[in-house]
Amino acid sequence: MPPTRVSVAESLRRTVLTASPAGPHQRPTRPADRRHTRRVIVRLDDVRDDLRRAYDGAVDRRDAAVKAPWKRGARRAFRDRLGAEGHTRLLEVGAGTGQDSLYFQEQGLDVVAVDLSPSMVARCRDKGLDARVMDIARPDLPPASFDAVYAMNCLLHVPNADLPAVLAAIRDLLRPGGLFYFGQYGGFGEEGVADKDNHDPPRFFAWRTAEQLRRYARDGFDIVDYHPVPVSDGGVFHSLTLRRQTDGLVPRARLNATLKAKGSS
Ligand SMILES: C[S@@+](CC[C@H](N)C(=O)[O-])C[C@H]1O[C@@H](n2cnc3c(N)ncnc32)[C@H](O)[C@@H]1O
Repeated sequence: MPPTRVSVAESLRRTVLTASPAGPHQRPTRPADRRHTRRVIVRLDDVRDDLRRAYDGAVDRRDAAVKAPWKRGARRAFRDRLGAEGHTRLLEVGAGTGQDSLYFQEQGLDVVAVDLSPSMVARCRDKGLDARVMDIARPDLPPASFDAVYAMNCLLHVPNADLPAVLAAIRDLLRPGGLFYFGQYGGFGEEGVADKDNHDPPRFFAWRTAEQLRRYARDGFDIVDYHPVPVSDGGVFHSLTLRRQTDGLVPRARLNATLKAKGSS
């Protein structure tokens, strides 16, 4: 169940409280209705330590939780897509306790799981997974080394100011044409620390709209599928499947046909 969302005003108030008090992350506020509020741009550096502590302390509870049927459906659909295209090497980003990584591994994929939280990674390793402590904003893996990336409710913890760089990092880890599942709970475009969160300390979220996600995704990816999933609190989960664009590289068959048509070989 997603944590309670906060109002935009409360979210901004909390954002001001949780972000760095000064420095390049601040900018003046524009809209008239917020002219008395200092808008602070939150960065991953501001929230990473609290996120790590929140997840370090939640391993047993999260691992015992029953996975919702629609989440099982999302991973099954992604596995089917990978199977249909012959993809085998998968990176899970923000793997948590490793339930989805284990599923993909048992389905025959070659899986690497990464997570910010050392305790989550330890649980993944207990399950026999190749798991590493890693912030996806600073990946320590070779470029173009995966056919697929799976990120279920991880990138909603990455502030909007850092999301383009994180998406670029994920894109670089994928080989051209590789697939990326990006799923997250949605909202009205606000970001901040959740009210009444069941994790301690309360976690930062970026509650994005479908349009926001599409805009971010278009930079470097083709959108293979987008569909919203209604969730239990009346909210929505955004389910995106993306494909890494090919850098303008021309597939060999098309290149050969072009050269032939031009009379060269
Ligand atoms: C909501 S949990 C989801 C876990 C799992 N994907 C699932 O669906 O059960 C988010 C996970 O992302 C991890 N995470 C958050 N920010 C991250 C980052 N910048 N890099 C890597 N992992 C991150 C957290 O530690 C946490 O385990």
